[in-house]
Amino acid sequence: MSAASEIPTQRSASYEADPAQVHRVLLLYSGGLDTSVMLKWIQDAYGAEVVCLTVNLGQPGEDYEVIRGKALALGARECHVVDAREEFAHEFLARAIKANALYGGGYPLFTALGRPLIAKLAVEQARASGCDTIAHGCTGKGNDQVRIEATVATLAPELRVIAPVRSWRMGREEEIAYAREHGIPIKQGTEVVPYSIDDNLWGRSSEGRWIEDLEHAPEDDVFQLVTRPEEAPDQAGELELGFERGLPVSLDGERMGLVDLIEAVGELGARHGVGIVDHIEDRIVGLKVRDIYEVPAAAIILSAHQDLERLVCTIHQNQFKAQLDHQWAYLVYAGLWWEPLRSDLDAYMEAVNEQVTGTIGMKLYKGAARVTTRSSPNAVYDAALASFSESGGLFSQAASPGFIELFSLQSRMAWRLRQ
Ligand code: ARG
Repeated sequence: MSAASEIPTQRSASYEADPAQVHRVLLLYSGGLDTSVMLKWIQDAYGAEVVCLTVNLGQPGEDYEVIRGKALALGARECHVVDAREEFAHEFLARAIKANALYGGGYPLFTALGRPLIAKLAVEQARASGCDTIAHGCTGKGNDQVRIEATVATLAPELRVIAPVRSWRMGREEEIAYAREHGIPIKQGTEVVPYSIDDNLWGRSSEGRWIEDLEHAPEDDVFQLVTRPEEAPDQAGELELGFERGLPVSLDGERMGLVDLIEAVGELGARHGVGIVDHIEDRIVGLKVRDIYEVPAAAIILSAHQDLERLVCTIHQNQFKAQLDHQWAYLVYAGLWWEPLRSDLDAYMEAVNEQVTGTIGMKLYKGAARVTTRSSPNAVYDAALASFSESGGLFSQAASPGFIELFSLQSRMAWRLRQ
């Protein structure tokens, strides 16, 4: 195939690069097949220099020195590896925890939270390295292109974007052939098509292969993070999470930084089979897809947080916040991290979470994580009032009938009218 002929000639957005203006490209480089082929292809097709950026968001089992070596061997002028775990945890995951962030009822948004940070770091590195263009490896069918390009176009209107995978029309076979032809080492065997994986500190997703067949139950080999529940220990695991103002700060009484705590909770959950989500999802670009998620840390921390929040908030706060949580998750899923409504919502999340201090105990058993104990100085809870055995104090049972009469008044009137 002639590489140059595959450069897109038509642009449909203002931030897309004019091929003649592409001289020095910041490539978001993972070390995988797509971005390795891109690294060579951009040099060939555009005659441009490439600077690589690899971002560490806590994806397990990555050797960044190997990735850097590979990038330089493939002709990258510079290869930068940025450890962004702390920023990811404190600026992104912390907000997600306070917002009980789940999209579609089950997806804790780890990829959606990572992309705006990765794209922001790409903008910073592109500016520092004198690049005119940012290249990423997203396809034209996913949400990640939306998240990355919306971020670049928002933060750096002077930079342009190219997305070779979206335009080059190479299939996997052709990419492998291109890699062989250009001396690009290929990691996995080439016979089996791999799952499409994305992961970081907050979880792991698998897409593709049999996952696209909705009638196909999960095959065991997809689970690389979480123990399958049927293989998990017969003995339940227990843990205690301490929260201060909405964030987990200790595990079993030991204070820990957020990154370490998330990793430790994730390991416990993974051992007990917690956090497997087989998810049907509405992508922002219109497609409906299936994802297999492994999210042990998020499953545990989000349910503990939500439980504690429910305890310290009033009925009105609890009802209202659920709607804002939902809106927050949607905005982040949709790639609108930099949208002012997101930070407006965060101001509310902060206000509510001022009270979310206390301790949650949980049991983990063969895939389930269940809250078993709660305590908080801010609980809007009085055991004496709630108890069946006591009366008096703030609660007057004698007042209940009058309350019921007035509370049900409109409903009773309407019922009568409609009979
Ligand atoms: N469905 C999830 C999302 O849209 C996960 C996407 C994983 N990304 C990937 N490039 N494999 O956020």
